[in-house]
Amino acid sequence: MSRIKKIPVILDGDPGHDDAIAWVLASTVEDFDIKAITTVAGNQTLEKVTYNARRIASLLKLDIEVAKGRNRPICSDLIIAPNFHGETGLDGPKLPEPDRELSKLSAIEMMAKVLQESDEKVTIISTGAQTNTAALLLAHPELKEKIGTISTMGGGLRNGNWTAGAEFNILVDPEAAYTVCHSGVDLQMCGLDVTEQAIVYPEDWERIRALNNPVAKVVAEWFDFFFIHMKSLGWKGCCTHDPCAVMSLIHPEIFDIREYYVDVELSGHYCRGATVADYTGRSGNKPNCRCVVGLDREKFVDVLVEACAKYEGWEV
Ligand code: RIB
Ligand code: CA
Repeated sequence: MSRIKKIPVILDGDPGHDDAIAWVLASTVEDFDIKAITTVAGNQTLEKVTYNARRIASLLKLDIEVAKGRNRPICSDLIIAPNFHGETGLDGPKLPEPDRELSKLSAIEMMAKVLQESDEKVTIISTGAQTNTAALLLAHPELKEKIGTISTMGGGLRNGNWTAGAEFNILVDPEAAYTVCHSGVDLQMCGLDVTEQAIVYPEDWERIRALNNPVAKVVAEWFDFFFIHMKSLGWKGCCTHDPCAVMSLIHPEIFDIREYYVDVELSGHYCRGATVADYTGRSGNKPNCRCVVGLDREKFVDVLVEACAKYEGWEV
């Protein structure tokens, strides 16, 4: 009987509590063959998010390498988000120390190696600034055809969250997002339009804590920490951004996905980093992106709980 071909996946992010939860989900997806984790500065410095990525890989027993990406955006000065993610970038629960050395390859070298060696098209799930993905596309245009989909958490067609116009991941590196947006690669974008609806409430993550396995306990405590700043901003729960970039690939049926032409604003005192969609087609540009703009929140939470339940009996 022919086995279903698994989808080779690269997880690229800046863990970050929601990146970490996205990776907990991704590592339970049977159709995924996670080939590598690559890190990018954003939620915290590159050193900190890379250390966090290596600890998450240990927690999840991922038999893969973690490769360090660029320590700063293509053009901008780095901005980081310790207010949300703490001084370590992943404050809260204790995590195991890394169980393997950091890869000797850079993120771009690792991404290129995975693409070169893969018989199947590779999916890149990008949950931080798109610096590494952009650098890969610029350095290896010949590998573009080996990318099946780039699924991103980033942008917001109607508002930003770091500035009025720009969402954090895009604002960290607008030139990178512009490069990805104009690459012609199949693109799925989970912006704030959906992620600010993907709210996980305290009673939801108490369901995760009640699973009482080591990974579920860590996830619940990540939500505990992430909620501290969200609550101070007036939110009643956690906008669970990055898992949308995973879940919209594996459960598109619970999301509202529209095809638009999207572009990235690079200039403008108030609008740099804004993602702008042509809703009417008047630009004359063909759609270049599947924009995820809504979801069934309760089903989203159920999928997260079910994923955490798969770690029953996990030994940390
Ligand atoms: O704006 C939310 C995004 O910025 C998420 O990816 C979060 O992890 C931060 O990187
Ligand atoms: Ca992130």
